[in-house]
Amino acid sequence: MASFNSQLLVLAFAVLVLFSNTSIAKPTFTPVLPPSYPLAVRNPYLSAWLPGNQAANLPSAVAQFWNDQKLTWSVIARIDGQAYSLFGVPRPSDRIKPATVISADLTATHTTFKLTAKDVDFVLDFFSPVSPHDYVRQSMPYSYLTVSTSSAASGSPSIQVYSDIDNAWIGQFGTSAQNTYGWEAVDRLTQVFSITPEGTAKFSEDRDMALWGSAVYCTRENASKLSRGVGIVDNVRESFVRNGTPGDLGTFKAGSVLAFSHDLGSLEGTENVTFVIGHVRDEAVNYLGKDRYGYFRSECKDFNCGCMHALDDFHSADQESRGLDDFIAASDVGSANYSNILALSTRQAFGTMDLTIPAETLDTKEVLAFVKEISSNGNTNTMDVIMPMAPILYVLAPDYIRLALQPVLSYLNSGSWPHDYTIHDMGSHYPNATGHNDGKAEEMPIEECGNLLALVYMYELATGDTEYKTKYLDLLTTYAEYLLNHGLYPAEQLSTDDGAGLAPNQTGLAIKAAIGLNAFGVMTNQRKYIDAGKHFADTLYSKRVGTDPERSHFTLIEGEHDSWSTQFNLYLDVLLKLNTFPTSAYKMQTDFYPSVRRDAGVPLDNRDLWAKTDWMIFAAAAAMAPGVDNEGVRDMFVNDVHAFMTNGKVGVPFSDKFWVDTGADGKGARQEAGLHIGYKARPVVGGHFALLALEGPDQVFGKKG
Ligand SMILES: *[C@@H]1O[C@H](CO)[C@@H](O)[C@H](O)[C@H]1NC(C)=O
Ligand SMILES: *[C@@H]1O[C@H](CO)[C@@H](O)[C@H](O)[C@H]1NC(C)=O
Ligand SMILES: *[C@@H]1O[C@H](CO)[C@@H](O)[C@H](O)[C@H]1NC(C)=O
Ligand SMILES: *[C@@H]1O[C@H](CO)[C@@H](O)[C@H](O)[C@H]1NC(C)=O
Ligand SMILES: *[C@@H]1O[C@H](CO)[C@@H](O)[C@H](O)[C@H]1NC(C)=O
Repeated sequence: MASFNSQLLVLAFAVLVLFSNTSIAKPTFTPVLPPSYPLAVRNPYLSAWLPGNQAANLPSAVAQFWNDQKLTWSVIARIDGQAYSLFGVPRPSDRIKPATVISADLTATHTTFKLTAKDVDFVLDFFSPVSPHDYVRQSMPYSYLTVSTSSAASGSPSIQVYSDIDNAWIGQFGTSAQNTYGWEAVDRLTQVFSITPEGTAKFSEDRDMALWGSAVYCTRENASKLSRGVGIVDNVRESFVRNGTPGDLGTFKAGSVLAFSHDLGSLEGTENVTFVIGHVRDEAVNYLGKDRYGYFRSECKDFNCGCMHALDDFHSADQESRGLDDFIAASDVGSANYSNILALSTRQAFGTMDLTIPAETLDTKEVLAFVKEISSNGNTNTMDVIMPMAPILYVLAPDYIRLALQPVLSYLNSGSWPHDYTIHDMGSHYPNATGHNDGKAEEMPIEECGNLLALVYMYELATGDTEYKTKYLDLLTTYAEYLLNHGLYPAEQLSTDDGAGLAPNQTGLAIKAAIGLNAFGVMTNQRKYIDAGKHFADTLYSKRVGTDPERSHFTLIEGEHDSWSTQFNLYLDVLLKLNTFPTSAYKMQTDFYPSVRRDAGVPLDNRDLWAKTDWMIFAAAAAMAPGVDNEGVRDMFVNDVHAFMTNGKVGVPFSDKFWVDTGADGKGARQEAGLHIGYKARPVVGGHFALLALEGPDQVFGKKG
């Protein structure tokens, strides 16, 4: 029996070898295969992704909104009369054959797929600009898809390139959806489709998709002849398969698509056609009852203009993006693992924001940034989300720290928030930034007071703008006083990691209070607060109130000697060069981490088996404090985040929360190492820039503003 089995095994192996020799090589994924590829990721409502595990089957793969809703977005090429699916045709057939995927490549701003069919090579380049110093460009709610077609030397095949979208892009699904579409030839070469839901309320969402505003799809002829069609998806694609054109402008019903096709004629060499996909809201957010428009509205009043602008801007936006991509790819602290993490984090972090101006005045001096706490709860401008996100802003555009804080500071300064500590967020659900005049918001008093003081100082250090704080001095003093009076032995409350629950006397909060006080003292030159911060630090570390008696680690809870946690707040002290704590404190904590690492990383704290990737990189960066310089611990954290990012078990936009071991979690339920926990597409992946931020602010685009 045993020998029969082994003969079978040999046979099976031989068949396998034969098969793999004759089949086409597997696609390559550079630099890594991520959990999900950003396709069009520009703001909370233009956020299209492709799960990594579908990339090898791109011709039949379907794009998704960050919250999993399927989006019709296809690309089909017709070569000498035979149609090939390049992307987004779930059921290829003889009529539309799948092309072969060669490779997928990920940079900070581009996701690029190479395919081939019938001796013709195709590149699908999904490009979402990240251009924070150019407010118009950054706020444009548009992304690009460029289809590059190259024929081999032999012959000049006749080629048409087709692409369509549907009304899922405006959150409309099923037969009851009501929407109107528009089509316009804006100039001789440029055509624009738009689609808008009917009977839906301004600022309303369905499963986080915007129900107001329009999806826009446009493209421009370039050595090609453009045609367009609207109708039921199978009919429109069949028309393309037969004739190379998408047919007529029919009515839009359930199951319809808006389609373009470029006839490239007999192709010699390479031709590119660029499509622009957008989601355009006239009113972007509601700030304290007043509508605000996207900053781009200072340039463009409607989406036709927006599309023209985006197409005109393509080459310079692309050129600029290549510089950013190169910079990120070269940011290989320790190893390329770190730059891979940054590459996947860049579009995601900037894609959680809208840059806005007042609808009434369109005054571009009144620019404000709004941030959506995507996926965890949808809150607007959450203070303890701006904090973990801040490192990417510090590195690429420190002025955004002010732009994101300003809506909160000016609300708090108005006196409408009734408490003497900092508010958690500006609204329970994006895009409503209506404040909490009733005083009811998630309560994290120490966390948010410390965050605000540290962030204002971070902004000042990064930009040299020493005036900003003076406007809010009274307000900031109130919060410093709050920390002074309540920060060393915090009452039972939440920390930023609210999922871990309430606890009294959290050492991490006391550390944050110490750093916040010192930051405020230093920036306002007030001995009282510097001394208070140092006194807290001295009590926690030297007097061992926040450590175990042997001083091997900071505790999670003061006095609970066996407790411990990832003390990410120490990073702020390092970044801001405050020296609230002595070097030996960072060294102690850094040396401790390897002893509590589990299978797939260091948990957030001793209570459970999950970790946060942003805090892991904060801890990695604190390990590089001057005089500590522990590259081993740095690399441990970086590699654990990288292993999570590339483990093939997760198919959602970069999650910042995952299990670091297999076994019973804090509630006794069985968990598997490397699986993510709920969170996805969140702004806090900006915190992965924490290590890079140690090299200074505004590293790429320079001080232009
Ligand atoms: C065409 O697209 C390819 C792939 O994105 C790119 O490498 C090339 O530079 C483009 N050519 C032009 C002229 O833009
Ligand atoms: C924002 O507020 C408006 C007006 O109250 C409401 O209709 C809308 O549903 C809210 N949006 C969200 C996403 O909660
Ligand atoms: C087509 O696009 C290329 C760049 O992709 C550009 O150099 C060329 O001028 C364009 N040609 C036409 C006819 O617009
Ligand atoms: C926090 O610690 C202080 C000092 O040990 C103690 O007096 C206080 O009761 C603790 N607070 C809580 C809520 O346990
Ligand atoms: C990069 O991270 C992977 C885990 O994803 C790890 O196996 C590898 O050793 C790391 N590379 C370096 C050079 O540290």
